[in-house]
Amino acid sequence: MAEILEALALRRARRAYDRRPVEPDVEEALWEAVSIAPSHGNSQPTRVVVARSPERRAALTGALNEGNQKWAVAAPLLAAVLAVPAHDFPQTNSDGTVRHMWGFNAGIATGNLLAQATAMGLLAHPMAGFDEPAVRAALGIPEEIRVLVVVAAGYPGAAESLPEDLRKKEDIPQERIPLTALVTEDSWHEAQGISAREWRKRLAEGH
Ligand SMILES: Cc1cc2nc3c(=O)[nH]c(=O)nc-3n(C[C@H](O)[C@H](O)[C@H](O)COP(=O)(O)O)c2cc1C
Repeated sequence: MAEILEALALRRARRAYDRRPVEPDVEEALWEAVSIAPSHGNSQPTRVVVARSPERRAALTGALNEGNQKWAVAAPLLAAVLAVPAHDFPQTNSDGTVRHMWGFNAGIATGNLLAQATAMGLLAHPMAGFDEPAVRAALGIPEEIRVLVVVAAGYPGAAESLPEDLRKKEDIPQERIPLTALVTEDSWHEAQGISAREWRKRLAEGH
């Protein structure tokens, strides 16, 4: 068990990639990790489109926001993680509100992808900073399909390959809210409502 936690702790959203291509069997293991993820009712809503040809890669890169383009352009592997909202078993609450699970299911699958990448010595960096219609246009994705994240993946490269502002971010300490604010017993605690940003401030001030 400790081994899994140690492996998960190695995952970071770094941005410097080596040019070395990801071997086909290594890449396939990423998609296997997505495939074996649990989903509600085994609905399996997650799909992946890999931007393989130079034309599609350029189009997908162009759909990212400017900040992401600067570094993601060098990642050997660029893929969009999608969800099919129709592949869902909605849960209806007593007040009539509905809980859709497709995004949650696809999130678990993406977590698997990131963990598997880390275990194989790869960086895998998810991005929400993109224009969804532009990603759809880049990869021929129909309107009823949602684009959840674009993932950049590849072997780690030298931080020196990055522009100065991004270089500094490569090894910033990983900040997380305290476990006491994450998990409580028996009832919700008001500390759980504090944002990560506010926790960062409080911890920096020594509270
Ligand atoms: C759903 C999601 C979207 C993200 N989008 C971006 C993004 O557009 N650009 C970026 O540089 N990082 C993005 N990240 C990476 C986060 O900024 C990063 O995970 C967070 O700062 C914590 O750092 P760590 O992953 O190194 O622990 C995203 C992460 C997730 C899970």
